[in-house]
Amino acid sequence: MNSAMVRWLTLGLVALALMACGERPIDVEALKKKPKGYVGSDTCKKCHLEHYDSWKMTLHSRMMQDAQKNQDVIVTELDPKVIRADLEKIKDKLKIPVDKFYIPKPEEVKYTIGSQWKQRYLVEKDGKLYIAPINYNIETHRWVNYNEDKWDKKPWILGCGGCHATGVNIEKNNFIEPGVGCEACHGKGSWHAALPKAEVFEKRQTIVNPAKLTMGVAVQICGSCHNRGQATKYKGAEWPVGYEPGKALEAYYKSTSFAEGDVRHVYANEFSKGHHQQYIDWSQSVHAKEGVTCTSCHFVHQIGVPPTRSQTVQAGSRQCMSCHEMVNKNLAHSIHSFGNCVGCHMPRIAQSAESGDIHSHVFVCLLPKDTMANPNIPNSCQTCHKHKKEDLKHLQDDWDALVKLPPPVGKPIDLKIPR
Ligand code: HEC
Ligand code: HEC
Ligand code: HEC
Ligand code: HEC
Ligand code: HEC
Ligand code: HEC
Ligand code: HEC
Ligand code: HEC
Repeated sequence: MNSAMVRWLTLGLVALALMACGERPIDVEALKKKPKGYVGSDTCKKCHLEHYDSWKMTLHSRMMQDAQKNQDVIVTELDPKVIRADLEKIKDKLKIPVDKFYIPKPEEVKYTIGSQWKQRYLVEKDGKLYIAPINYNIETHRWVNYNEDKWDKKPWILGCGGCHATGVNIEKNNFIEPGVGCEACHGKGSWHAALPKAEVFEKRQTIVNPAKLTMGVAVQICGSCHNRGQATKYKGAEWPVGYEPGKALEAYYKSTSFAEGDVRHVYANEFSKGHHQQYIDWSQSVHAKEGVTCTSCHFVHQIGVPPTRSQTVQAGSRQCMSCHEMVNKNLAHSIHSFGNCVGCHMPRIAQSAESGDIHSHVFVCLLPKDTMANPNIPNSCQTCHKHKKEDLKHLQDDWDALVKLPPPVGKPIDLKIPR
């Protein structure tokens, strides 16, 4: 930057600062005649610094990262030798020969997707973004294939766009910001941001606060991404095109199910096998009926660092015990010496990177007999009792023996009800 540019920039900043302090009156009606639009999280930051700061600590803000600006967002080296060596190990499963794989150079990567379980890489071809055919599984430090035969057929914007970026426009092939920004959950913010700070009530009315929506509509905000299925208003899109926070998700999205043939992502009992399906699971649970929602257990943005992985309000099974203070010590709950509620009620039977790395959200403990009745259905017990894999019946018998309540003793009470 030369010194003239610096001067102009300083002048501009001073002018902006003056405008911000000067809280001019604003014609609210005129403002509302303009269509509402997206402004991006950096605009919200100006007034909501603490929310912004805490959001920055969450994975939502880091979902899609600009690798052109900062190559450090790529979590490992894109070394073709290492990648091909890993692919060689699974070559029987591959649809093209290992040496035919396209492996992007680091400078070709526009954005990274993900940084926790796995990472994929967006590259540009004819003005559109596509997902390169290689995928890095972070915890197992392993490269695997991803749509190697057709990676450049379906653009990212159709298959993934709206769940990983904010303000996505398929028609215009663009988006407002990479990652899950403020407006992905709070809706378009241009009116709200333009109003002066003093217009508190107008401010509140022009932005979505999920806490003030009805439970059913609020949880659908999370459900617009933690879900799997097809858009109802845009052919070929796999995210709810047209949906905005506060609207009814069902109108824009049809979730997948086993009943309708999705054996790849759902077990025969409709429990999730695939990732980003927490809403599908949760919808079937008693918690859904009682109004215990995603935000009853998860922070979305909490001042400071969230205390646990997955941003749960409390760590592990203490999360459950914060509400379930009294749990029956009989039956199922009598066989273990520990209180691992999550281990039984949220077994790791779904997959993000490697099989069994993420939790079920139906909150039902699956028993060995469920698997005995249908081998397609997993059970909670064998996520720990692995050595008994061969003998499901043995595990079920032990269970049946241990969870039996002693027969009742004594004689029936002689009820003398006065008439
Ligand atoms: C010019 C300052 C300013 C900007 C920019 C701004 N806000 Fe606000 N926001 C406010 C004020 C002031 C309130 C009202 C606080 C109160 O209720 O006392 C508010 C309230 C909110 C609320 C709560 C509404 C309610 O009904 O309780 C949400 C949510 C919110 N803002 C989100 C955002 C988002 C998202 C953005 C960016 C798109 C944004 N804000 C940009 C100043 C701003
Ligand atoms: C993943 C969804 C999500 C994202 C992303 C998100 N929020 Fe929120 N926000 C929520 C939910 C849900 C609530 C209501 C919290 C509750 O139920 O207590 C909320 C509440 C708020 C509130 C009002 C309540 C309060 O704490 O005073 C403000 C202001 C706010 N968010 C600002 C922001 C800003 C600014 C950003 C971006 C930097 C942002 N949010 C990003 C989901 C989100
Ligand atoms: C309906 C919304 C939705 C669609 C469509 C979608 N995703 Fe995701 N994706 C999510 C959510 C939500 C998560 C995080 C929760 C989870 O994994 O269970 C996620 C997680 C990921 C992760 C792992 C992130 C990490 O930190 O490990 C990757 C990689 C990813 N998605 C890639 C893709 C790609 C590539 C596409 C398109 C082919 C795609 N997703 C389509 C919602 C979606
Ligand atoms: C009753 C509490 C509870 C509710 C309700 C709940 N979760 Fe969770 N969630 C958890 C716990 C506990 C974990 C595992 C935390 C850990 O790894 O220690 C978790 C994990 C996750 C993860 C990380 C991936 C995984 O499965 O390990 C995501 C993403 C997630 N939840 C999203 C959601 C969404 C979206 C909703 C609403 C549709 C929701 N959760 C409802 C308790 C809950
Ligand atoms: C616009 C899409 C979108 C919306 C809306 C959304 N999420 Fe997410 N969420 C994601 C994606 C994508 C990830 C994965 C981020 C990553 O791994 O980098 C994620 C990650 C998470 C995680 C962290 C999981 C972990 O492994 O640590 C939790 C918890 C979560 N979301 C809960 C929620 C809740 C609660 C809501 C509703 C208030 C919500 N999300 C709304 C897309 C979304
Ligand atoms: C915010 C409070 C809250 C939290 C946190 C919570 N629950 Fe619940 N849970 C409820 C309520 C309310 C019900 C419905 C009434 C009842 O059966 O007690 C319920 C019901 C259940 C049921 C079904 C009971 C039945 O009647 O079939 C199970 C199982 C369950 N919860 C397990 C868990 C587990 C496991 C966790 C931790 C991951 C957890 N809950 C966390 C409030 C909570
Ligand atoms: C060994 C696996 C296992 C563990 C560990 C476990 N549960 Fe359960 N839980 C079950 C099964 C199975 C049922 C179904 C009823 C039955 O067969 O007894 C159940 C039933 C429930 C119910 C509904 C009926 C009742 O007894 O109130 C709630 C609520 C519940 N569990 C909560 C919890 C909480 C909270 C924890 C952690 C303190 C926990 N469970 C630990 C397996 C388990
Ligand atoms: C989170 C891991 C975990 C889960 C899930 C789990 N168990 Fe266990 N189980 C253990 C451990 C560890 C022990 C050793 C004794 C103890 O610490 O209570 C044990 C002990 C037992 C015992 C006592 C006899 C023996 O073999 O030592 C039986 C029977 C049993 N489990 C059955 C089950 C059944 C049935 C389920 C599913 C409903 C189940 N367990 C789920 C970890 C688990």
